[in-house]
Amino acid sequence: MNTTEQLVAIVTGASSGIGLGITQALLERGWRVVGISRTISTAKELKPSSDLFLVDGDVSKKETAIRVVDAALKHFGRIDLLVNNAGIYLPKAFTDYIEEDYNLVMNTNFAGFFYMTQQVIPQMKNQNSGHVVNISGASVDQPSAAANELLAILSKSPLPAASKALALEYAANNIRFNTVSPAVANTPMHAKANHAELAKLHPLARIGEVSDVVDAVLYLQSATLVAGENIRVDGGVHAGR
Ligand SMILES: NC(=O)c1ccc[n+]([C@@H]2O[C@H](COP(=O)([O-])OP(=O)(O)OC[C@H]3O[C@@H](n4cnc5c(N)ncnc54)[C@H](OP(=O)(O)O)[C@@H]3O)[C@@H](O)[C@H]2O)c1
Repeated sequence: MNTTEQLVAIVTGASSGIGLGITQALLERGWRVVGISRTISTAKELKPSSDLFLVDGDVSKKETAIRVVDAALKHFGRIDLLVNNAGIYLPKAFTDYIEEDYNLVMNTNFAGFFYMTQQVIPQMKNQNSGHVVNISGASVDQPSAAANELLAILSKSPLPAASKALALEYAANNIRFNTVSPAVANTPMHAKANHAELAKLHPLARIGEVSDVVDAVLYLQSATLVAGENIRVDGGVHAGR
């Protein structure tokens, strides 16, 4: 396959959990991937190759987004998919949050989406094609009394709305925006000891696997008429009780 024909993705938070699963699934399907996280060069599961370029960086900084997009274009020549997945989860009682918590979570979960997405648009416009998937969370429109997590709600709830607004703003450029919203998924974000209790929060009585979330991202990538959508991968949480 000609290098310029191979599809290219940027995945943020690719060192662990959902982002790692998305990265591995794309590589298995013949994609080239730029994976980014603060410590990704130390991730045991990922080895740089002709199809995988790793960038250590903090998504809350605009300069990281510039470096990542430069690397994608320099090494792989195009950008077909951006997955805004990097995230921090900091559950606490609302009044216990301090300024540093606010800045850390909002800058990672929200500013990360903002800067990365701004930087990929010019290239996607040049190509007249592209797709951005934002990883939000099922709790943003179905909060649970079992978890005090206002900063997760505050940082992730704009993402489905932003996907819809940007899907319209860039429809004429053939750039799609969609959201995937997991409930509790089996990643290092949640200690194994809590999984059985957490599964009870889902009507389907199991927590999600990384593959459940990966499947939603792959579906959206293949579903070229789907834009502005939000797929909840939540075992039925959003359906009600
Ligand atoms: N697991 C769940 O139950 C669940 C539920 C709802 C939504 N989500 C969302 O799904 C996404 C992935 O979560 P996960 O469960 O896979 O978590 P995870 O295993 O903890 O992975 C988080 C990833 O984000 C990266 N990251 C964190 N802060 C970063 C920063 N400032 N800059 C760059 N990378 C950063 C981490 O790598 P470094 O430490 O190397 O930076 C890691 O690669 C998150 O956005 C999360 O909010 C997860």
